Amino acid sequence: MAELTTLASPLDVGGVRIRNRVFLAPMSGITDEPFRQRAHAHGAGLVVSEMVASGELAKGRAGCDLRIRHSGLPVHMVQLAGREAVHMGEGARIAAGEGADIIDINMGCPAKKVTGGYAGSALMRDLDHALSLIEAVVGAVSVPVTVKMRLGWDESALNAPMLARRAEQAGVRMVTVHGRTRCQFYQGRADWRAIARVKEAVSIPVVANGDVGSAEEAATILEQSGADAVMIGRAHYGAPWTAGGIATAAAGASAQAVPRTPQALADYVVSHYEDMLSLYGIESGLRQARKHLGWYLDRHAPDASAEQRKRILTSFEPGDVAAELRRVLVDRAQSTSLRSAA
Ligand SMILES: Cc1cc2nc3c(=O)[nH]c(=O)nc-3n(C[C@H](O)[C@H](O)[C@H](O)COP(=O)(O)O)c2cc1C
Repeated sequence: MAELTTLASPLDVGGVRIRNRVFLAPMSGITDEPFRQRAHAHGAGLVVSEMVASGELAKGRAGCDLRIRHSGLPVHMVQLAGREAVHMGEGARIAAGEGADIIDINMGCPAKKVTGGYAGSALMRDLDHALSLIEAVVGAVSVPVTVKMRLGWDESALNAPMLARRAEQAGVRMVTVHGRTRCQFYQGRADWRAIARVKEAVSIPVVANGDVGSAEEAATILEQSGADAVMIGRAHYGAPWTAGGIATAAAGASAQAVPRTPQALADYVVSHYEDMLSLYGIESGLRQARKHLGWYLDRHAPDASAEQRKRILTSFEPGDVAAELRRVLVDRAQSTSLRSAA
């Protein structure tokens, strides 16, 4: 599969070397520092911060610092959302000052609280305004600027190729396209072939995104879109090693640091949990970690009892949560394998 080996090769984004072509998608509330650190350690080519609202960043609002802070990874990429050119420019300057190597602009988020403020994918309804934001960011920083978009607002306005071309002319160095319209939200299947029209419209790298979860799908999206790289989001739920696993398989190597035994998996999940508690503090960390713990259970202990899930997902005692996680992930796995060996 020629396309699969392509995924292992590096990519140049405006002079920044990206080590391979399988990326972790930015996901608000999910791809925080502990998650990105793990995805990077497993071998993902590029990881991106959760979006940060440029207006809030420019005003110094609490919480923005955690989203943009440098986590020591070789490439620090920060995504900005917003609708005011002045805030986008200022936000980009602040992120670059924190060490961002690449600034991404969110023109794809479908959430009403974002599009209602005419940010995210709403910008695809007014390309002149979208361009004014791109120009503000490109003019504010010397690091490469990239844009993440959808195919368009709806089926009657598939203007991603036009936005990508104008973005390239304004100095953008890479675009990512999620193969859905805004009005589709997350319904239906991503249209991988439609991304090809963006690839034909520009000469900068194009990243294809939407519904990829395996090496086969990564190869197919590249083949159908002609894109240069693939970005993967939700397939990482309960498996931060997804992008890295595909990238290392494409290189003919075995996946890095993936937990392979029930004990290793329990240690991995507990350490992810503990990293979140130390980043956010116990009260906030407990709540924010629950979705991850739920996904780990869904994926790795689908037959855990409702009582066990409840203890893990509602307890306010970190020690109890960790102990119950170990019981569910290790003891049950052992008793299952003992049963199946008997
Ligand atoms: C919970 C969640 C949060 C997201 N947050 C962001 C975000 O902050 N910025 C962004 O550009 N896209 C965001 N996205 C979109 C993803 O980056 C990606 O485009 C989308 O999930 C499709 O890829 P997938 O099918 O591989 O998940 C988010 C998606 C989800 C599910």
